[in-house]
Amino acid sequence: MSEAPISEVTVSEVTPDLIAELYLRAEPYWHTRSGEIHMPQAYAYAQALLRAHPEASAGTVLAAILLHDVGYARVPEETHHQGLADAPSGWQPDITRLHEQEGVKLARELLSELRYPAALVGPILTIIGGHDSTSGEAHSLEDAIVKDADKLWRFGARGVEICRGWMGMTFEDFTAYVEAKIPTWFHTAEGARLARLTLDRARREHRETEPGETEHRETP
Ligand SMILES: [Fe+2]
Ligand SMILES: [Fe+2]
Repeated sequence: MSEAPISEVTVSEVTPDLIAELYLRAEPYWHTRSGEIHMPQAYAYAQALLRAHPEASAGTVLAAILLHDVGYARVPEETHHQGLADAPSGWQPDITRLHEQEGVKLARELLSELRYPAALVGPILTIIGGHDSTSGEAHSLEDAIVKDADKLWRFGARGVEICRGWMGMTFEDFTAYVEAKIPTWFHTAEGARLARLTLDRARREHRETEPGETEHRETP
């Protein structure tokens, strides 16, 4: 098991140790649907968004992002990609709902085991229970931050490679697809700004690793 990173964010309602413990308890549920890559990235993006929104409840955001997709561990693996909106094989909203509902049950168990502050448990479970099915709207600042942090990995180099594989799209088509989604996917200005920044970097890295025609011709 990897070492849990200590949150850089000042957590007013919960201690950094509690977040680190939750990270370790959530991690075993990430090894499906590239969660082992998606979750640490989403967690880092949530921390970045919290720095832009110090008024948000960090204890709510960090727990919700660490646990938001744990429900996939209880959804048949062969159906996982049908829980992806715009999936080429057809999107099945029931799969999306199922991972949210299973996620709420699992999250409740994990938070209870840790004696997570009771006042935060309700808001955390509400966010997990609608993070995809109500992605078009944000019901609180914490919900907005979790939804934005969840989407941001699709704009980075690794997320692009993984997600475009799921969607059966080329690099160019997938990056154009996510770029067009920025105005509707993101609920915070910082989320949209980070999406553009991250996408620019992914495109730059792609150009560097996939040299164009001219450079090929120069190769002896
Ligand atoms: Fe999800
Ligand atoms: Fe997610």
